Amino acid sequence: MALLRVIDRDGTEHEVEGKTGMKVMETLRDLDYGVAAICGGMCSCATCHVYVDAAWLDRLPEMMSDERELLTELTHYADNSRLSCQIEFTPELDGLRVTIAPDE
Ligand code: FES
Repeated sequence: MALLRVIDRDGTEHEVEGKTGMKVMETLRDLDYGVAAICGGMCSCATCHVYVDAAWLDRLPEMMSDERELLTELTHYADNSRLSCQIEFTPELDGLRVTIAPDE
């Protein structure tokens, strides 16, 4: 089991089992306090926006230009913003901590 730590929009931290080999979004989408992920992972809706804990940022796959473009248009964009549909949850990411971003 690989652990995913999720801080919801109320600031409560949850520990959930992450689905390894799938996108982080696919775990978050199944949670009541998770993400909407309206486009289903096509990198076009940004409703899977999360903030990644600083300690984990460098361990994530590099951001592609389409992800960066979408994120930087958001009102709630921050330096540690990522689209969770663009992050594959590998066993190496066991313990990853993300915060669900506010609705746009
Ligand atoms: S699910 Fe739509 S951009 Fe990630």
